[in-house]
Amino acid sequence: MNTRENRKFRVLAVAGARPNFMKIAPLLRELHARPKFSTYLVHTGQHYDAAMSEDFFRDLGIPTPDINLEVGSSSHGAQTAQVLERVEPLLIEQRPDVVLVVGDVNSTLSASIAAVKLGIPVAHVEAGLRSGDRAMPEEINRLMTDAISTWLFTTEPSGNENLRREGVAEDRIHHVGNVMIDTLRANLARARELDVLTRLGLEPQGYAVLTLHRPSNVDDPEGLARLFDVLEEIHNELPVVFPVHPRTEASISKLRRDEPLRLFTLPPLGYLEFLRTMADSKVVLTDSGGIQEETTALGVPCLTLRDSTERPITVTQGTNTMVGSDPSTILSELRKILDGAGKQGRIPDLWDGSAASRIVDILERDLEKGK
Ligand code: UD1
Repeated sequence: MNTRENRKFRVLAVAGARPNFMKIAPLLRELHARPKFSTYLVHTGQHYDAAMSEDFFRDLGIPTPDINLEVGSSSHGAQTAQVLERVEPLLIEQRPDVVLVVGDVNSTLSASIAAVKLGIPVAHVEAGLRSGDRAMPEEINRLMTDAISTWLFTTEPSGNENLRREGVAEDRIHHVGNVMIDTLRANLARARELDVLTRLGLEPQGYAVLTLHRPSNVDDPEGLARLFDVLEEIHNELPVVFPVHPRTEASISKLRRDEPLRLFTLPPLGYLEFLRTMADSKVVLTDSGGIQEETTALGVPCLTLRDSTERPITVTQGTNTMVGSDPSTILSELRKILDGAGKQGRIPDLWDGSAASRIVDILERDLEKGK
């Protein structure tokens, strides 16, 4: 008999794209460890190449998803709609007590809409981040997911402030820390055992790491070509290791260049290999959101090739400097780092490896209360 005492709370967790996987991993581990919960994992299939998906499940020990919705790539509208359409019948069939979503990708928003329309409450992990730039697809996903979620779990105080400013009730906002840093801390020792540097012929501190995939940087061929000019200049002095995202690969193939890029290009790396490569680098240049946080946690200087960040604590407390796409700013900030004057930074509060446990504590407490 399913009395209130022995009934398990059913959590349907959703992940779809590469940056979701390192966030969902510690949450699933924590949920599995608690007798009060049962879980059902949905992979939307937004990312589908082994290097963007399966390799991360293996590296992070994430259980095989209970279902893969195989939505694949398409325009924003079509991709968002397909997840929504395919998640809805699953929610009707599974009837979870909570839908757990992470981050800010299209799958995050779609699953949240589908759940809320069926009266199922949503818990959003990594809530409240705001770049202030509504041209970023992720900003729209963040605003909309937060507006309809019941639990808003934030990584940094700016998230709480943003949500308050948007009129969110205080009892929905929980500053719990950063689940992605739970994953980093749990895996750093394993990553350090890998021989990836030897395989790539790199010396610790003897190279830079570059990642680029934001539509604002890679979808405009002229802007991308200008960015590559300055990055190639850096590569003359400090090898620039560049694992190339599929979106960026497609843009590079459209650039009219006579010669190949003079950077150390690679296919996307797995989680552990990439973590090791970042941890031993002199500097990371990126337009990613998550990497701004990972470099802060590692104490590695980061130059962010964007004009805004939704993660301001990485600048005010961490190792991050916003450099946009202006060559002289990029080069002068890089020079400071090479001269030993890069930011030291400190690790923000609650980025301590226990964020997932705090989240599940709050869910358990509130579900027990019948909230
Ligand atoms: C998505 C997220 C972005 C996140 C990024 C991390 C949204 C709006 N964007 O952007 O927030 O930072 O993931 O990677 O949700 N492709 C492949 N193989 C794959 C996946 C994608 O080749 O496994 C190619 C396809 O050509 C596709 C393109 O990459 O059209 C873009 O993929 P998509 O998921 O639409 O967006 P991302 O740029 O990856």
